[in-house]
Amino acid sequence: MTNAAMQEKAETSPIESIGDTLHDQMIDVNAVILDRMQSHVPMIPQLAGYLIAAGGKRIRPLLTLACASLCGNESDNQKKLAAAVEFIHTATLLHDDVVDGSDQRRGQAAANEVFGNQASVLVGDFLFARAFELMVETNNINALNSLAKASSIITEGEVLQMSLIGNTDITREQYFKIIEAKTAALFVASCEVAPILMGQDATAFTAYGHCLGMAFQIVDDVMDYTSPKMGKDKGDDFMEGKITLPVIVAMENASDDDKEKIQTAIKNPSADNIDDFIALLEKYDAFNQSVKVAQDYSNQGAKSLSHFTGNIAQNLIALPQSILHRVI
Ligand code: IPE
Ligand code: IPE
Ligand code: MG
Ligand code: MG
Repeated sequence: MTNAAMQEKAETSPIESIGDTLHDQMIDVNAVILDRMQSHVPMIPQLAGYLIAAGGKRIRPLLTLACASLCGNESDNQKKLAAAVEFIHTATLLHDDVVDGSDQRRGQAAANEVFGNQASVLVGDFLFARAFELMVETNNINALNSLAKASSIITEGEVLQMSLIGNTDITREQYFKIIEAKTAALFVASCEVAPILMGQDATAFTAYGHCLGMAFQIVDDVMDYTSPKMGKDKGDDFMEGKITLPVIVAMENASDDDKEKIQTAIKNPSADNIDDFIALLEKYDAFNQSVKVAQDYSNQGAKSLSHFTGNIAQNLIALPQSILHRVI
């Protein structure tokens, strides 16, 4: 191997390696996605295609295929379930950007900015419904149960989060409840649905998906302050009154004076006080402490699949740690 090839190999992240290994299956999944977002109502494929064509990491359908491959069985049904998982994720994003009033998604104007809120909500509903059609086609009530449960739990998480906006009394436990529902539930379903489809014990996959999802959202919440995603601004969560782990950690440790400063800033968020707010969080080491919590989930997630061997298993085991560095 040449030096350049070795370097390239070293830089390939676990999710990219999984994507490379499962490249042909993912092509089939993408074909299902494109085929099943079609409708005789032109605005549906226009809007859905606009968001889907912008890419996204496809981490959830890749997890479905990767976990299926660990269970040693490959069929068209797992591809349908992988497509259903991505449809549920896409529907969630369409709704989430309306709820959050976001103007950017995947590095381009959010669908709600281009097509309007009503169209985004309705096409989100369409994609949810299409996901259910795909699940029904697998003829497996247990797989359907896993994804159906995840769908209602995600919405519970989003509503719970909304009901606690701006509430500075929010506890760690409430925060964990929110992210477990809005994010980890779909990671759980993505990972467990293939073993469930194949009638195998899914316990390890359920645990893995939970830990990966928790770590994923905690890292996302830290990055909101430290290195926002493409098209997002530093401190968007602060501006939206969304109280995440770094803020909770800081409030747990702050002096009475600083706690009051944090609470006052949350009640009056403005672009002018973001830097002072972030400095307060840094004073209490809130970002490092939050990443430590994500690290614990990450270690636990890796452990749950440690009894599997082979290339895909190795990459799944490495994935939670790589999420901490966001090299995906
Ligand atoms: C975004 O998920 C929503 C969160 C759970 C933070 P992703 O970061 O997986 O989004 P895409 O699909 O890659 O755009
Ligand atoms: C994304 O959540 C959607 C769900 C997890 C349901 P957020 O609102 O926290 O994430 P971004 O910043 O919009 O991707
Ligand atoms: Mg959002
Ligand atoms: Mg949101």
